[in-house]
Amino acid sequence: MEASTTILAIETSCDETAAAVVVNGTEVRSNIIASQIAVHRRFGGVVPEIASRQHMEAIVPAVNAALAEAEISFADLDAVAVTYGPGLVGALLVGLAYAKSLAYGLGKPLLGVHHLLGHIYAGFLQQPRLPLPAVCLVVSGGHTNLIYLEGHEKRRPIGATRDDAAGEAFDKVARVLGLPYPGGPELEKLAREGDPEAVHFPRAWLEEGSFDFSFSGLKSAVINYLHHARQTNREINRADVAASFQAAAVEVLVSKTIRAAKEYAARSILLAGGVAANSALRQGMLSAGAEIGLPVICPPPLLCTDNAAMIGCAAYYQYLRREYAPLSLNAVPNLPLY
Ligand code: KG4
Ligand code: ZN
Repeated sequence: MEASTTILAIETSCDETAAAVVVNGTEVRSNIIASQIAVHRRFGGVVPEIASRQHMEAIVPAVNAALAEAEISFADLDAVAVTYGPGLVGALLVGLAYAKSLAYGLGKPLLGVHHLLGHIYAGFLQQPRLPLPAVCLVVSGGHTNLIYLEGHEKRRPIGATRDDAAGEAFDKVARVLGLPYPGGPELEKLAREGDPEAVHFPRAWLEEGSFDFSFSGLKSAVINYLHHARQTNREINRADVAASFQAAAVEVLVSKTIRAAKEYAARSILLAGGVAANSALRQGMLSAGAEIGLPVICPPPLLCTDNAAMIGCAAYYQYLRREYAPLSLNAVPNLPLY
């Protein structure tokens, strides 16, 4: 029988307490996500201190559930992986303290994983042999990055947001439209009933040839539109505004990614991060990719938003390279990717 590697992965960087068992990098045996949405909803966003406390309550049951669903015990683990940044420091520390104690107690290696790398590796869960080089668009609540991916250890930046992250723009626009937290998925739901061409919001292309993004102008344009409509007592159609905002954001994300894929001669396009759960973005990218003959890898929505299976996948390749972390590993809230 071939040797297999079983990794327990833990992710507590924001508002999901997640634990997963991943075998040989891509076989997800369990993927437990304890969401804190209900707790944060009445505050309209994530309250960091509450997130930490919730993680403390949820971490042990989440890990136990991950092991039970995978039908293994602690003794079967080869390594323990954990997200150590970027994210909310107090939230990260809960996962880290747990993972470090467990690795020490079991005498097994500890693997420290970058949260965004985890998002990228959701693509390898979806398609373990995804064609490289790839151009990867990571769109989450805190980040918007275009990355050139040559191999497991080889990646370099192509572009990034200069202000708001795409998810942040979705969340802020959702809030001004009176939608509950988390805004992104609620805005998508409302947009389904609207006309994406009803209002023309600006697209931030930036300087010619730039692969950077900017979403603050678009966000302000929506706020100004709503404000002006209120002042002039003009009736607004919220669904039209949501659909028009979404169309503007998606158009820029898709067209810059496609242009990068062409310029960098990519063999595939990878979509990652929470906003990649958005079906307008998925469909836009899939059809634009098909037009230029490139496969677009879009993990299922559950693997796009925060989860620990993606952390286990990224950790596996670090394990193969023996990139173990010391037990002194600390949380790094602004951990850079490069
Ligand atoms: O990756 P993620 O779960 O957490 C971070 O690392 O930030 O991403 C969360 C972000 C939030 O801004 C959320 O509103 C957005 O992803 N998001 C969506 C959708 N689902 C999640 N945005 C638009 N449409 C969605 N369906
Ligand atoms: Zn994330």
